[in-house]
Amino acid sequence: MSQSRETFGSRAAVIMALAGSAIGLGNIWRFPYIVGENGGAAFILVYIACTLLLSLPIFLGESIIGRRSGANCRGAMERLAPGTHWKWLGYLSVLTPMVIVSYYSVIGGWSLDYLFKSLSFSFIRESPEAIGGMFGSLVSSTWAPLLFHTLFLGASIVVVAFGVKGGIEKFSKICLPVLFVLIVAIAVYSVTLPGAKTGVDYLLKPDFSKLTPRAFVTALGQSFYSLSLGMGIIITYSSYVHKEENLLVSGVGTALSDLFFALLAGFAIMPAVFAAGIEPSAGPGLIFDTLPYIFHQMGQTMPVVSSLAAILFFVTILFAAMTSTVSLLEVGVAFLIEEKQMARKAACVAVFCVTWLVGILCSLSFGPLSGVKLFGDGIFDFLDKFSSNFLLTLGGLLAVLFVGWKMPKAAVHDEFTNGGVLKGNSACFGVFYFILKYVAPLAVLLIFLTNFL
Ligand code: PFF
Repeated sequence: MSQSRETFGSRAAVIMALAGSAIGLGNIWRFPYIVGENGGAAFILVYIACTLLLSLPIFLGESIIGRRSGANCRGAMERLAPGTHWKWLGYLSVLTPMVIVSYYSVIGGWSLDYLFKSLSFSFIRESPEAIGGMFGSLVSSTWAPLLFHTLFLGASIVVVAFGVKGGIEKFSKICLPVLFVLIVAIAVYSVTLPGAKTGVDYLLKPDFSKLTPRAFVTALGQSFYSLSLGMGIIITYSSYVHKEENLLVSGVGTALSDLFFALLAGFAIMPAVFAAGIEPSAGPGLIFDTLPYIFHQMGQTMPVVSSLAAILFFVTILFAAMTSTVSLLEVGVAFLIEEKQMARKAACVAVFCVTWLVGILCSLSFGPLSGVKLFGDGIFDFLDKFSSNFLLTLGGLLAVLFVGWKMPKAAVHDEFTNGGVLKGNSACFGVFYFILKYVAPLAVLLIFLTNFL
């Protein structure tokens, strides 16, 4: 099956590909808002603790499944627990990213549309009223979102079609450094705007009264989502990690990059939002309603700077969304190549067709199909909620149970320490294993129940 299986070329490549998956819309449109809502700096500390103490061990658990098996999610279960019901974890891990990518690509398409809007100076030329109606009219129209969804998904699958080294690795190595430079530039600009201080305070002023038990679950859920856990990505990417690589080091590198980017995104967005005197919101509203309005306001006095900022911002979103989309697509492609013996290009066409079609339904659910409801939600919202509240957490829960309770402890130790060679990892193994076996399942169960109820 995998005689000539590809691997990432270097540690930097592994971290950049994994961080490229982790850094996405979750960092840009969820994190900054959640921080302010849950107590600012106090919440950031809780978030860092949740990421390093809980989500990172889960991430490492999934990495162990991936590298130990050297196979796609379904193949991994067959190799590590042949002939058992764990195969369903394999199938679930292939299904979840396929569902997610269908609507994620629609959002990617919207950012592409907004990039074109920034390039044609729409946010400066149009009136504030017209800007206020822009997002609503884009999503409810039929053809433009479909065209951009197609372009975005098409470009992402082309990257995947070039393979692990020639496509994913190369693309991540270009995008990640560019992303960091762009977000730093926007953050520096944003915090120096007049009136930005309120936004900085929103992120940094600790408000311990808002640090409720709910904030802990929110922090955990966000770090879980942000590190792309529970959806087969870490298993699949780790299956391409060389046997000599130190999983702990690449895991810590990925988690720190993701944390750092989330914080930078907070400083890029919130000070500008407050400088413009607008209440922040989460989700698409923040990026597609609030920010264009800010670019408009700034454009009245500094048109060149504002246009440049808008272009940079939408390029950032586009790159962040695309590196995540590539990772979501690779899970299904790897499955088809190894389990259905398809050539990579054919597998890419198949995955593209399925996710493109479901994406079309998602896109139309704001327009012509807005009357179609699934459990009270439109198609897009239903798939978003169903996957992030249910499929992801279920996948994550099963994955930690698999590593903690099904895999032999000796095998987990072997993979974590590269056969005992990495003495530092051996020293940390006890803590890691304890968290993975006892604490992580309870923590993920808590997120699952909170989301579900
Ligand atoms: N981790 C990425 C992000 O934060 O955007 C990718 C991702 C995670 C996409 C979870 C979708 C999702 F439901």
